[in-house]
Amino acid sequence: MSRLTALSVDRYKPALLLLGLFPLARWFWLGWQGELTANPMEFLTRSSGTWALVCLLVTLSVSPIRDVLNQPALVRLRRTCGLFAFFYAALHAITWAWWDQGFVLGLMWRDVIDRPFITVGMLAFLALLVLALTSNQWAMRGLGKRWKRLHRLIYLIGALVILHYWWHKSGKNDYAEVLVYGAVLLVLLAWRLVGPRLIARFRPETKKASAN
Ligand code: HEM
Repeated sequence: MSRLTALSVDRYKPALLLLGLFPLARWFWLGWQGELTANPMEFLTRSSGTWALVCLLVTLSVSPIRDVLNQPALVRLRRTCGLFAFFYAALHAITWAWWDQGFVLGLMWRDVIDRPFITVGMLAFLALLVLALTSNQWAMRGLGKRWKRLHRLIYLIGALVILHYWWHKSGKNDYAEVLVYGAVLLVLLAWRLVGPRLIARFRPETKKASAN
């Protein structure tokens, strides 16, 4: 396969943008059709949480896919995927603040303190916020080497979100989906540890490209 250039990868960005907006468009369509279930806010809270997690896992998959296909320019799609993860997580947090807590700060604070699964979700969200705010050239230049270290937080965020999801499901005896998402995260984490070494062994000339 020939190497994709930065320019050719950038041509896929509008398609990625449309794909990322698909869940939002689907909610509008379901709302228009009156099919947001009997409890629309609960549906939107769950659906936005699920899409935030999916986008997070897609973001974490970009580097392994880049390494396996030996296409360094694919990394240019990572930021857009990460920003979509933040976008859906923010909508998820807003539906909780609105529907569950009526936007009353005191109630929101109590819920964060009282329910461990909300505490963990909030931690994940705040960490995502930091990554979203530093996902620009200006922050990259300003933070230098620390930028890469900071953005490794994404693996911790993934683990926190799986814990949040698992906690939410505990007591309902319904762990099938959490286990699938957890397994995907585990594979991606394992790749982070062994992937670059495997690439270096089987394709020594690309050792450098798989280092981040
Ligand atoms: C401000 C932080 C957060 C709060 C307050 C929060 C709150 C909630 C609540 C209340 C639910 C239960 C919804 C229901 O059953 O009606 C939930 C479920 C969930 N949340 Fe969060 N969450 C937060 C952060 C996150 C983040 C950052 C992610 C992902 C990136 C996430 C992913 C999920 C998932 C996947 C579910 C399960 C959805 C399902 O049952 O199908 N949450 N969250």
